[in-house]
Amino acid sequence: MFTLAHISDPHLGPLPPVRARDLMNKRFFGWLSWMRRRQGIHRPEVLTALAEDLGARAPDHLVVTGDLTNIALLEEFSRVAEWLHGLGTPEAVTVIPGNHDAYVTLPWEASLAKWQPFMTCEAGAGENAGADAEAQSGPEAFPFVRYRGPAAIIGLSSAQATPLFCAHGTLGTAQLERLRSLLQRLGEQGWFRVVLLHHPPSLDRIAWRKRLVDAVPFREVIAEAGAELILHGHDHSFGAEQIAGPDAGVPVIGVPSASAGRESKHPIAHYQLYDIEQAGNGWRIGVRSRGFDPASGSFREARSYDL
Ligand SMILES: [Fe+2]
Ligand SMILES: [Fe+2]
Repeated sequence: MFTLAHISDPHLGPLPPVRARDLMNKRFFGWLSWMRRRQGIHRPEVLTALAEDLGARAPDHLVVTGDLTNIALLEEFSRVAEWLHGLGTPEAVTVIPGNHDAYVTLPWEASLAKWQPFMTCEAGAGENAGADAEAQSGPEAFPFVRYRGPAAIIGLSSAQATPLFCAHGTLGTAQLERLRSLLQRLGEQGWFRVVLLHHPPSLDRIAWRKRLVDAVPFREVIAEAGAELILHGHDHSFGAEQIAGPDAGVPVIGVPSASAGRESKHPIAHYQLYDIEQAGNGWRIGVRSRGFDPASGSFREARSYDL
């Protein structure tokens, strides 16, 4: 059995000291919203309890599907890198960015490069050796693939700087084309293909201003090439839908923010564990959802089910 943990949207707080010149752009409105509302929701003590609970569950691997920062201050990227190293080694943790991590346009080296060890594309083992040896870094490095147990974990980036009051995301044609060929090859090789993207590939369950712009072409790639599990964040809610694959439906699962200390218009913090094992010609996926309990200040099992 291989256990994968999924957390999303930790929106690490508190914010580092902010200089007026850092706020001379869209960040100002994000900062206002943080001061007025969000800092009361995204709580560091919840992330401390989460780290403890993850330590006790000891999953084989952890994935984080974006929005680790709040307004993409350069100092936030360093703090997040430190936090990630505290959760586990780059071998044990995989990260993709969300729209808050691209709140304004920033040079790669000063921002997301700080998380590069957790986003490194790997050459596969055995018959896969060398297939992904390009292992580039930088904004062109998506999708990347990492191999853990039976799982090939594919990281996408839908993070883009958007105009004020917009939070949409785009994968783009180049990324989708690489995704198609990766999924085809990994499927032929029998990997359990986990696709990570920040924005839910939903057509009608998300506000227009928060949508994945190329949800339709993404779904076409999945319909043609297939995947075993698609994980996302962004809407700070539970998401569970099936989209069409070549033979059967592919589960698409979202989780609430990992740091939400109380219920707001969104659920309190939860994360999920996926217990994956081969069953006949297919896979069995058991899901365990763990939620934050404010009374005890710790996470406990909320529900479990099979996909
Ligand atoms: Fe978020
Ligand atoms: Fe988001």
